[in-house]
Amino acid sequence: MELVFASSNSGKIKEIALLLPEHPVLKGLADIGCNEELAETQTTLEGNALQKARYVSENYKVNCFADDSGLEIEALDGRPGVYSARYAGEQKIAADNIAKILQEMSGLKNRKARFRTVIALCLEGKEFQFEGTVNGTITTAKQGIQGFGYDPIFQPEGYTQTFAQMSLAEKNTISHRAKAISKLIAFLKDTY
Ligand code: IMP
Repeated sequence: MELVFASSNSGKIKEIALLLPEHPVLKGLADIGCNEELAETQTTLEGNALQKARYVSENYKVNCFADDSGLEIEALDGRPGVYSARYAGEQKIAADNIAKILQEMSGLKNRKARFRTVIALCLEGKEFQFEGTVNGTITTAKQGIQGFGYDPIFQPEGYTQTFAQMSLAEKNTISHRAKAISKLIAFLKDTY
């Protein structure tokens, strides 16, 4: 039995493979000869994760899971959400996305936000979903240089530092992605 993670990010694949039980063996898209860029044309994180997992599962006849994440800001009605990567344009530049958020939020008192990850799993003809969230606030300026995306302006609840001021190990103990992955892993451990 093999399980495919619908991702071409070899760092992400290795990280998850280390956390999984010995079986199933985890493969990435390259391992099954899939070099296409998977479509993410849905309007929700759930929709995109399912779209990717279903596409790979149906076209390559494998069990597969896929993830999609985004930043949801309360005062912006949940934006950038599913459009997080390309909020300031299709070139997907993190610094431009951050600048756009800071500008839209300038003067706003309500700075509540959350990161959310959805994982969709297509397993033996059935579909499952796992979610992880982390609540926090949007700072008024960038702080820190680690991480990626919106890390420099997201301060998780109960912490005085942004994600970009934390080590990856520390971020991984509280992040949305880590929480969704640990739910998936618990499910797989129960199932196998
Ligand atoms: P993905 O689904 O993991 O590729 O995430 C989509 C986009 O959401 C990324 O390009 C980032 O803009 C944003 N994002 C998701 N997770 C994080 C995070 O942990 N830190 C900062 N930005 C994130």
